[in-house]
Amino acid sequence: MTAKLLSPFTLRGVTLPNRMVVSPMQMYKSGPDGLSTDWHLVHLGKYANAGFGTIFTEVLCVEPRGRSTYSDAGIWDDAHVKPLKRIADFIREQGSVPAAQIGHCGPKGSRQRPYEGLQPLSDEGSEAPWQVVASTAEPSAPGYQTPHALSIDEIQEIVAAFGEGARRCDEAGFDVLDVHAAHGYLIHSFLSPLGNKRTDAYGGDQAGRMRFALDIADALRRNWPDEKPILYRLSCIDRMEGGLEVEDTVALARELQARGIDAIDCSSGGIKGPNSLFSLATKAPPTQGFQVPLSDAVKHGSEMPTMAVGMIMDPEYAEQILQDDKADLIAVGRQALFNPHWALHAARALNEGQTFDDWPPNMGWWLEVRQRMLTSTNPEDWRIGPAAANAPNQAAD
Ligand SMILES: Cc1cc2nc3c(=O)[nH]c(=O)nc-3n(C[C@H](O)[C@H](O)[C@H](O)COP(=O)(O)O)c2cc1C
Repeated sequence: MTAKLLSPFTLRGVTLPNRMVVSPMQMYKSGPDGLSTDWHLVHLGKYANAGFGTIFTEVLCVEPRGRSTYSDAGIWDDAHVKPLKRIADFIREQGSVPAAQIGHCGPKGSRQRPYEGLQPLSDEGSEAPWQVVASTAEPSAPGYQTPHALSIDEIQEIVAAFGEGARRCDEAGFDVLDVHAAHGYLIHSFLSPLGNKRTDAYGGDQAGRMRFALDIADALRRNWPDEKPILYRLSCIDRMEGGLEVEDTVALARELQARGIDAIDCSSGGIKGPNSLFSLATKAPPTQGFQVPLSDAVKHGSEMPTMAVGMIMDPEYAEQILQDDKADLIAVGRQALFNPHWALHAARALNEGQTFDDWPPNMGWWLEVRQRMLTSTNPEDWRIGPAAANAPNQAAD
């Protein structure tokens, strides 16, 4: 029986060849122009040649002030399309589905790269800070820059920038779109009662706080083909007193679905701190699958497909999530950095008989032969090529 992790999944007119997804991960390898580079082509391309069904770009920023650092990749300019198209084309040629994430870092912009300390840029540093924006003029964490609270006209400009970003992603050939509405970034700063203190139409009650995310959904559906799916990455809970709870996310998911959004990418946290993966309030480090209960709750609360993400490392565990109907897709982040061949190893681990059948044949064929050499005592099993032409143990070409 084929493992569910290895089975296809269809959203709108796009069939993902399996359930294994490379999660969006910023690599800080663009220049200040936001152009994607050969580095990104090689980085994302290696996952396409390695069994992942769907491969997301890192968050592509819809305007320059929506970057987190000067090295973020962009989608704010038509010039961004060409290098991204090379990446999307390559991923498709390898049989995977090219997918793009778009977003705006909002109050978490103008910072150092993580490995430099993640501190807000300052006038004393080598890179000039820029004015960040948010729903509300409150820093997202102590010591962070105070954002400019967007006016209603400025909100509409950013909604339009998301629409333009989607159009460019389509032109670049991506088949799936994910909107970064999590981790304390701009959209999350509107959604969360801990981030949004507005009293106008874009704040106040739940409907007001959701309005920006829903306006963006409408803009995306005007600019992105009907046959291509859109996911929203949400911080399903804030993990903080007074913050978003899973019921809020279920309500949002239903509204998003009514506007043509196809699946929820279930993350959490980040509204009041630098770390998107956990909140200090939990007082515990995340463990394998720590966000899976959120995916489960959103999937069954909203009847929308979900993608689970967060410390999913073992293929057997990933398979169990799907078997238990707690998610439809499995996104892998750091485990893919640790082992770019994770999806191929997962396929082999879940294949009965531990075959290399799901590996690209130009690699799998050789590994199958090696496996026989390692495990069989019968010289016939070590043969490379036809019996009559080749003696056992002959050297490889
Ligand atoms: C280096 C790095 C960069 C990331 N960049 C993004 C990003 O661009 N967009 C996003 O939504 N999440 C981003 N994340 C979060 C991941 O997509 C993922 O949700 C998180 O790492 C948890 O999954 P994991 O435990 O499999 O890594 C990033 C994570 C890492 C480690």
